[in-house]
Amino acid sequence: MEKVLSWIDARFPMSAMYKEHLSEYFAPKNFNFWYYFGSLALLVLVIQIVTGIFLTMNYKPDANMAFASVEYIMRDVPFGWLIRYAHSTGASAFFIVVYLHMFRGLMYGSYRKPRELIWVFGCLIYLALMAEAFFGYLLPWGQMSYWGAQVIVNLFAAIPFVGEDLSIWIRGDYVVSDATLNRFFAFHVIALPLVLVGLIAAHVIALHEVGSNNPDGVEIKKLKDENGKPLDGIAFHPYYTVKDILGVVVFLIVFSAIMFFAPEMGGYFIEANNFIPADPFKTPEHIAPVWYFTPYYAILRAIPPMFGSQFPGVLAMGVAVLIFFALPWLDRSPVKSIRYKGPRFKIALALFVVAFIWLGVLGVLPVSPMRTLTAQILTAIYFAFFLLMPWYTKADATKPVPERVTE
Ligand code: HEM
Repeated sequence: MEKVLSWIDARFPMSAMYKEHLSEYFAPKNFNFWYYFGSLALLVLVIQIVTGIFLTMNYKPDANMAFASVEYIMRDVPFGWLIRYAHSTGASAFFIVVYLHMFRGLMYGSYRKPRELIWVFGCLIYLALMAEAFFGYLLPWGQMSYWGAQVIVNLFAAIPFVGEDLSIWIRGDYVVSDATLNRFFAFHVIALPLVLVGLIAAHVIALHEVGSNNPDGVEIKKLKDENGKPLDGIAFHPYYTVKDILGVVVFLIVFSAIMFFAPEMGGYFIEANNFIPADPFKTPEHIAPVWYFTPYYAILRAIPPMFGSQFPGVLAMGVAVLIFFALPWLDRSPVKSIRYKGPRFKIALALFVVAFIWLGVLGVLPVSPMRTLTAQILTAIYFAFFLLMPWYTKADATKPVPERVTE
């Protein structure tokens, strides 16, 4: 075994990489519940890629065959139902895990110096993930697939001057059609997965360059023992590999429960209308995107059209997603973690979470004047969280940060 290893090491830095990223990668010893979601996001990525490969073996990206090929997978392909439900449940699980992972970042100031690039790569991952989910959703060619894509692509048409041409360019046609399905398939199965994997590699490389933050926001690299090991650090392997396995087990129990007993999740993971084949001549009465897009959809609908153009809403929706990139430069607090921040930040974060979830609920419901007004107030709160951040984080009272981690 040793001989084989030294043969490899002379040709490829295997032991060196194992040490650098696992056995001698020192992570803070006070990781809590919120630190499970990075490794869980990696797990979901693997689930999506593996199940995706098997789905592709029987799926037909053809407007005349796509819907039937999915039904064929569900009924006739051995374990096809399992592979399909794993993939559809995985899509929602991905967003649940990523939203919790981002929330952890907000709580503990993980986006702050020197981790700005980890955050920026994270935001790019989030954009790519949204694109990946959007392209994938068209593939079953159900009513919701079809009309959801129609609505979203039409949003691009609202962009001044270039919008009309841009939306035709995206569709490859004047309406969503076979040409659209073919290109969305190409994006979903190869282009965006490549981008995602590349971005995730960059995300983790940047993380390992600076080291993880932790619930106290203490930089563990500041205090090291005589061997250069951080006093508050423990080796990633075996300590966190074992700890992460616990997260994986609990996650898989919940994941399996949904996949086996409630794969449609009451219409939130797979919508009822998507069991009807796409019909370009029949618009469904109520079109709503899948739950993970609905906060942004609610923001879109909250902003009234100007001069007959939907552009202001489209712009607000775009800015609502992109504004996450600015976070490292908006937070002016002298401390990172919520544990040592004052009431202003805590209230702002709580209001933001309430606004995000409530907007998500409004996004699935049909509009009414009362709901539109509520969405407008919540949209104002959403943007205030970011735009007022330089002010309230600076003015906030803070507690002294300890030298060492506290647990
Ligand atoms: C497929 C999606 C993603 C994967 C696979 C992924 C993976 C990881 C992993 C394995 C870690 C280290 C473990 C942990 O701290 O939980 C991590 C840390 C981090 N991620 Fe992600 N991530 C993803 C998306 C995102 C997104 C969307 C953001 C933010 C917009 C983000 C921001 C961060 C930050 C700031 C850290 C450092 C946290 C700290 O040290 O406190 N990640 N990520």
